[in-house]
Amino acid sequence: MYGIAIFGCGYVGLVSAACLAHLGHAVTCYDTDFTKIHTLQQGSVPFHEPGLENLVREQAAAGRLRFTARPDEALRDARLAFIAVGTPTGPTGEADLTYVRQAAREIATHASGALIVVNKSTVPVETADLVERIVRANGDPAFRFPVASNPEFLREGSAVGDFMHPDRIVIGASDAEAIDVLKEVYEPLGAPVHVVDVHTAEMIKYAANAFLATKISFINEVANLCAVVDADIDGVVAGIGADARIGRTYLEPGLGFGGSCLPKDVAALANVARAHAIEPTMLDATLSVNRRQVAAAVRNIEECMGDLCDRTVAVAGLAFKGGTDDIRESPSLTLVEALLTRGAQIRVHDAYAMRGARSRLRERVTYCRSVYDACDGADALAIANDDRAYTQLDWARVAAALSGNAVMDLRNRLDPAAVRRAGLTYRGVGRSPKRLVAS
Ligand SMILES: NC(=O)c1ccc[n+]([C@@H]2O[C@H](COP(=O)([O-])OP(=O)(O)OC[C@H]3O[C@@H](n4cnc5c(N)ncnc54)[C@H](O)[C@@H]3O)[C@@H](O)[C@H]2O)c1
Repeated sequence: MYGIAIFGCGYVGLVSAACLAHLGHAVTCYDTDFTKIHTLQQGSVPFHEPGLENLVREQAAAGRLRFTARPDEALRDARLAFIAVGTPTGPTGEADLTYVRQAAREIATHASGALIVVNKSTVPVETADLVERIVRANGDPAFRFPVASNPEFLREGSAVGDFMHPDRIVIGASDAEAIDVLKEVYEPLGAPVHVVDVHTAEMIKYAANAFLATKISFINEVANLCAVVDADIDGVVAGIGADARIGRTYLEPGLGFGGSCLPKDVAALANVARAHAIEPTMLDATLSVNRRQVAAAVRNIEECMGDLCDRTVAVAGLAFKGGTDDIRESPSLTLVEALLTRGAQIRVHDAYAMRGARSRLRERVTYCRSVYDACDGADALAIANDDRAYTQLDWARVAAALSGNAVMDLRNRLDPAAVRRAGLTYRGVGRSPKRLVAS
């Protein structure tokens, strides 16, 4: 079992920390956000992630998980230091590595012995080289600081389960000791381990996210086509998804991808391509289809409701996906803003993201305690993310609350027949009305 320091207590850092503690390691987390550290020291988790708060409390009580606002304290008995800080989009689409550089400097400056530096943040190829240069320039030359890349593939909303049951572990390193130690750390998970060089590991993460984003944009384009030629996207997804070469996952038509990863990672990879004089044709197309998807949803709503000026729309699901409070790059919020510019009145609900949404939408919308409350007097209900609770609504109650009768299923998650049985009209994304009558 190892002493592990984790730099960054966000979705990736905190989930990794709690899970590594669960595997028996002694983990200390450091974050530059003192409020976050204070909250964690009080036994609370500063964001919503299913199962995380219990795991954090359990591991803290067992003495395997600690939080500190001092980098030297985090590194005191550490054998490994994980970097799990944010890598937001910079002004021209590039990954902003400010926090990675800062963490690397802090690790080198405060290390009290040799350390394996493991980068878990999603970063462009060659960032591990940069981290290595920073660590070498700032660290005690008496200590060895091999640098490894260990990208993370967890998804918000199912992060703990994803970390504990990964499809694969990617270890990018050239240092034999770093490879052996990381293999040992992940061994209890029983997942296949891909040992590659650091550049390849960094590229694997970007390529994985770019591919997933491309699947989403592809199926959105096909769904938009289905709508105009009166074909049914569900049938298409089932028909092509059954092909083992294609697979069903991420063939999910809707409002497009959002969140803190896919949009920024595709943009960053496109930026890397441009920096090397390669035109990122596919990546640009993926982003461009995605940008159009909210406008397509607005057109869909207008086709159903007509002029939106002074009409009231209840919007359910503000986070970029269900089960999380993360509103970063949420297409739902872009949709709300687009509807507001058309003069609509908006009543919103989200199980976890109301506070975050308020920081962006301010007093321009009405915040409601439940979907039924949001529907009260509204002309239509738009389901804007894939929160499972929205698939199990009491449609008779929705119908009673609405003053109109339109349900816009912007993620194709509802059972159209159940909605229609309550006397409501149903409209999805590329779902054929012909098939819906039959179902
Ligand atoms: N969120 C996801 O689903 C996900 C999945 C896989 C990979 N990633 C990648 O992992 C990285 C982290 O993502 P996240 O969603 O956890 O970010 P986040 O914004 O939730 O958390 C980042 C944390 O790092 C802290 N931080 C910044 N500089 C620091 C420093 N010098 N030392 C210590 N802490 C510092 C911030 O205060 C913040 O708490 C990103 O590169 C992201 O692309 C994210």
